[in-house]
Amino acid sequence: MNSELMNKIVLGEAESILPKIEDNSIDLVLTDPPYFLDKMDDKWDNDKVSKITDYCHTIKSLPPGMKFNKEQGKRFYKWYFKISKELYRVLKPGGFFFSFSSPRLYHRMVSAIDDVGFLIRDCFIWLYTQNQPKAMSLNHFIDKLDYDNETKIELKERLNGWKTPQIKSCFEPIVMAQKKYERTFLNNMLKYNVGLLNTNVKIGEDMFPSNVMTTQRIHEITNKCFLLPKPTKEEKGEFNIHKTVKPLAICEYIIKLTTCSEDAVVLDPFVGSGTTSVAAKKLGRKFIGIDTNLEYVEIALKRLENIERETVSYYETKNNGIQLRVLEAKSKYLRKRKQTSVRSGK
Ligand SMILES: C[S@@+](CC[C@H](N)C(=O)[O-])C[C@H]1O[C@@H](n2cnc3c(N)ncnc32)[C@H](O)[C@@H]1O
Repeated sequence: MNSELMNKIVLGEAESILPKIEDNSIDLVLTDPPYFLDKMDDKWDNDKVSKITDYCHTIKSLPPGMKFNKEQGKRFYKWYFKISKELYRVLKPGGFFFSFSSPRLYHRMVSAIDDVGFLIRDCFIWLYTQNQPKAMSLNHFIDKLDYDNETKIELKERLNGWKTPQIKSCFEPIVMAQKKYERTFLNNMLKYNVGLLNTNVKIGEDMFPSNVMTTQRIHEITNKCFLLPKPTKEEKGEFNIHKTVKPLAICEYIIKLTTCSEDAVVLDPFVGSGTTSVAAKKLGRKFIGIDTNLEYVEIALKRLENIERETVSYYETKNNGIQLRVLEAKSKYLRKRKQTSVRSGK
């Protein structure tokens, strides 16, 4: 059944495509779902989102995603519970499920994944320093109060610098969940080729892999411990109009950390412009991507066309007829950095 979908970007709703995927057949689910903020729900559409003008009834200039509504979180939980149930079915025992989120919705997302039966293993964060602060001054509201001018001026002075409770958001949480493994980690790995983390994969300056990642040079300590390659200008593709493209390096890092076989299948049910599938293809893994939006599917296909597989070497060991194949490739970034260090004599 999976062969029809293998190495394809499928146009359709995850809800109707996921049932076509075989039980216990996927090595890794890596995805960035729609967040259900304002109009950005499961029918998320770039055109519509760009044209919304009435997303906030109080302040028209608020961009989509800023209006706070408790119901959004609850609707998201219910919907993601159903999706996660399917993802649990299709993942191999011990297979990992990484899902990006937002600080505001993370608890709903993780509860849905947890309630389905996944083991919640960790929370990764993608750290950055640049983001648009969304907090707003209250002067606009003060002007509308039925007070005399002097009182308004006094009030503005008193509340100078006090803004609406939206702190500059500088990280994205990513849950690391795992389908229940069979018997022991070792047994599970030997049987299904998943369930362990590849600590040969390094982050920063050859450091043990961590749950903090950044693609931005911040400070010598963060660079040393958490830095992944900076997204290149070409990596998204000039034609890519998707608003929430993830850095390829983060997807590659997670894929290398959790999958070890060339037959490994990386599934993204909300693939957008295809970043996770591009990363899987580059690393010589198989992929299945799903998205409802034809324009994004076309962008993903175009990006995939331009990708060449990175050369990887692997060795095989046999254990009671069970094959364990471990990819040994170091990231291009590390190879490049080492060459640079040699050149600069560091
Ligand atoms: C946050 S974006 C993913 C972006 C992606 N990580 C990238 O790098 O381009 C979420 C995607 O989910 C898609 N989507 C929304 N509802 C969906 C559904 N029910 N089934 C499949 N895809 C859906 C949207 O079209 C959107 O492209």
